[in-house]
Amino acid sequence: METFDAINKRASVREYLNKPVPKDMLEKLVDAGRRAPTARAVEPWEFIVVTERRTLDELGGMISTGLFLKQATACVVVFCNDTKYYLEDGSAATENILLAATDLGLGTCWIAGDKKEYCEAVARFLGVPPHMKLISLISVGWASKDVKQRKHRQVKDVLHWEKF
Ligand SMILES: Cc1cc2nc3c(=O)[nH]c(=O)nc-3n(C[C@H](O)[C@H](O)[C@H](O)COP(=O)(O)O)c2cc1C
Repeated sequence: METFDAINKRASVREYLNKPVPKDMLEKLVDAGRRAPTARAVEPWEFIVVTERRTLDELGGMISTGLFLKQATACVVVFCNDTKYYLEDGSAATENILLAATDLGLGTCWIAGDKKEYCEAVARFLGVPPHMKLISLISVGWASKDVKQRKHRQVKDVLHWEKF
């Protein structure tokens, strides 16, 4: 798939088939994440790939806006060390993973991490050192219905040549 095809096709998927995602695909997602741009080249990220049903269910129970983790067959959890640009770096890695997943035909949804009330609980549950920042939880699975992009603001409405 061409890069623009993946960008045009990506949309949040919250309903999944009960069908596992092969391990090599999940590794590819992390491979894409770790290649993201990173301020001062510090690469502050760590990626936890969760595939165990019980763990996914428990995460879904902790996160009110991520209940659908109980349906997903995998989740990539992105944590970063507390560097100056941890949020930008972790977000760049997250977007790389979303696009790579689209390329592989997988459905994903970015679930909020940073500054959420469940950060500490999620870190404790996954055995992550408390100084690390939760950036995102990315639900992963095979979409159970056709994925359609939502309507986006048009280029003509968001593009400003030279000055605002
Ligand atoms: C920083 C961030 C946090 C998000 N958190 C959640 C979330 O907690 N739960 C959820 O269902 N979707 C979450 N989303 C997904 C957005 O709701 C979604 O991207 C938006 O509605 C646009 O739809 P699309 O992804 O299909 O283009 C998040 C997206 C971003 C970028």
